Amino acid sequence: MIASNRGPVSFTLSEDGALTMRRGGGGLVSGLSEVARDSELLWVCAALSDGDRSAVRLAPGGRLDGAGYDTGPLRMLDIAPAVFHRAYNAVANSTLWFVSHLLYNTPFTPHFDGRFQREWESYQDYNGAFALALAEEAGHEARVMIQDYHLTLAPAMLRVERPDLRIAHFSHTPWAPPDYFSVLPDEVGVEILEGLLGADHAGFLTERWADAFMDCCEAFLGARVDRAARTVRYQDRVTHVGVHALGVDGPALLARAAEPDVESHLQVIKEQVGDRRLIVRIDRTELSKNIVRGMAAYREFLAEHPEWHGKVVHLAFAYPSRHDLPEYREYTAAVQRCAQEIEDEYGTDDWDPLILNMNDDYPRSLAAYRLADVLLVNPIRDGMNLVAKEGPILSQRCALVLSREAGAAAELGADALLVNPFDVSGTATALHDALVMPEEERVNRASRLRAAATALPPQRWFADQLDALA
Ligand code: F6P
Repeated sequence: MIASNRGPVSFTLSEDGALTMRRGGGGLVSGLSEVARDSELLWVCAALSDGDRSAVRLAPGGRLDGAGYDTGPLRMLDIAPAVFHRAYNAVANSTLWFVSHLLYNTPFTPHFDGRFQREWESYQDYNGAFALALAEEAGHEARVMIQDYHLTLAPAMLRVERPDLRIAHFSHTPWAPPDYFSVLPDEVGVEILEGLLGADHAGFLTERWADAFMDCCEAFLGARVDRAARTVRYQDRVTHVGVHALGVDGPALLARAAEPDVESHLQVIKEQVGDRRLIVRIDRTELSKNIVRGMAAYREFLAEHPEWHGKVVHLAFAYPSRHDLPEYREYTAAVQRCAQEIEDEYGTDDWDPLILNMNDDYPRSLAAYRLADVLLVNPIRDGMNLVAKEGPILSQRCALVLSREAGAAAELGADALLVNPFDVSGTATALHDALVMPEEERVNRASRLRAAATALPPQRWFADQLDALA
């Protein structure tokens, strides 16, 4: 069984009450959908929208597969909207995400007061609803794979209900070091760590995040950590800590990128860019993705290198994300402002130095990868970052400028141009170095990047975790 906040499908409700089903978005869902398609595993997820809730209410026991939808075994949980909102927006996305990506502006945030207490209770209830549903659905000694920061309490809650199960938790985000994790109220930090230690196996994308988790267990719980064996012993139980890097299914991605809808976007982009060199970035408009500093670096590169004026275009795709949160709306506005300033400063009648596109379009993203000379991936901090892996698979000669704070740097660092994401000038220099990199070197580096990016496809990533639970 799999449990995650976002499920493999979502529903929209039209004015006449008709429901339309779509594939769910995001990296976690794409990775897991690949795996789930080939197996009989049951997926438990939350209803995220009114459309989802309408679909669930018509499905006996919340089982969408039982209501005639072609989803594979799927149970969607109809959690009360107010509880869901506080658990997802206030705790998971505004607190735990900020802690794991080090995003707080600490003179002002976080600010844990009485209101947070209520939000935390909703997060407990939301995790409880998952634990209950999993306990109801799981066969004897079933293996349950619980995903991400939305569900840190569910492993321990599930263990209480069903001690016979084998439980894994996987974090798709970074893990904060103890000095930063300690911003959480003490009892909340302890509950999160104890929640995860309810699992038999706690998985992370890189050694760095796994080490940070073990450091927190030692610092805040006094747990006995064996770093060589990667185990945490706490209250007479042992949790194994695993490192499972997630890569890309290369052949599937190449096949998708050769489809006609991608080809037509390819022609459009070629017309826009002409024979100029192309710097591409593709992100959700997410605070941790560092889009504003990336644009500032491009601006500094243009200021330092007038010889490139009219000869390069920066194509920035920044897709909508988490617009319920004011910080994300403000960030989106900052990205737009920054792009406009560059256009105003450097644009001419026949040259758009920066093209910003904010409407999500997967085939267009694939076309952009194929044409990229340089791929810019400069997050402040990132669990893995699959964009850094997809680019070199689709472009034979793309140079990768990569933040050293992305999990992907552990596998791709040797052949990428690594940057400190806060160093705008350093990033500007790396963009220039990437553009002037000799052809042979860029082809050789891209080929090694491709090998590293495809080494651990989702199927393997999943199978390794299942094996770890055996
Ligand atoms: O990085 C964690 C993660 O769950 C990704 O797998 C996914 O792309 C993203 O966060 C989705 O966030 P949300 O579900 O809030 O859009």
